[in-house]
Amino acid sequence: MQHLLKMSDLTDCEIIDILNLADQLKYEQKNYIEHSHLKGKTLGMIFNQPSTRTRVSFEVGMIQLGGHPLFLSASDLQIEYGETMEDTARVLSRYLDGIMIRTDRHEDVERLAEYGLIPVINGLTSYAHPCQVLADLMTIREKKRTLKGLKAAYSGPGHSTLNSFIVGGLKAGLSVAVASPGGYGPSRAVVEFAKSYGEKFSLCEKPEDAAKDADVILTDVWRSPRYKAGTQELAELMEKYQLNENLISYARPGAIVLHRLPARKGEEISEAVFESHAGEIFEEAENRLHVQKAVLLKLIGG
Ligand code: CP
Repeated sequence: MQHLLKMSDLTDCEIIDILNLADQLKYEQKNYIEHSHLKGKTLGMIFNQPSTRTRVSFEVGMIQLGGHPLFLSASDLQIEYGETMEDTARVLSRYLDGIMIRTDRHEDVERLAEYGLIPVINGLTSYAHPCQVLADLMTIREKKRTLKGLKAAYSGPGHSTLNSFIVGGLKAGLSVAVASPGGYGPSRAVVEFAKSYGEKFSLCEKPEDAAKDADVILTDVWRSPRYKAGTQELAELMEKYQLNENLISYARPGAIVLHRLPARKGEEISEAVFESHAGEIFEEAENRLHVQKAVLLKLIGG
């Protein structure tokens, strides 16, 4: 593993290795066992989008590992004034040990990785959110003790996180059922990949079908401008796809609920479902820290 740009960069074994290491790092951190494996290493963190979880968890993770995080707002870099990703990659490779980047354009992440000499980690693009999905898988395994044989259901429109969840979930042994409105679901390449898993993947428009007998139900914030607050489109979407008590009733008893956050309670998820599953949702947010530390160790440790 040279970079983490999307879930398909990882083999099935590499995913499980990262989750195992993340469990160990979480145990060590909870038990005040120091693990400064990245002493002397520096991670550049480029953001051209806002972030709470990704920024803070990478920054704190590097500090806990004994390394040094460097926050780089894209608007303060020469990228803003036209310096290419290719040249930025070649310059930053001379100073840093790794780069984490959040940017809308997935091709920017690919170009950084292609032209740089150091590992690149995708902290969310319009195509993929692998760090989030590793945290999701860690949380599911923590709560359910296994991944193999479980069913995860997704309800609502979705893009980058859903793309990564489908690929990562199937590789880790989950069955994945997705209910999305036509034209607002996973990317075509991801659906083609998922088809090779046969009955373990399904894509439909009815959330009740996806949620039936699910062990895990998840959704994401509905970001499209089409779904602005107060619009008829949002009201129709909520009526059909909202993760609420009715939808949960189709899942298995004891099903867990995940949401990558930030949440718009009352839109993609009801307040009642969010609050009754807040323990799982905030554990999922915490697990970003542990799983990213594992990724950092795999990529820039040693
Ligand atoms: N889930 C997630 O990536 O959160 P942030 O946008 O706050 O980083």
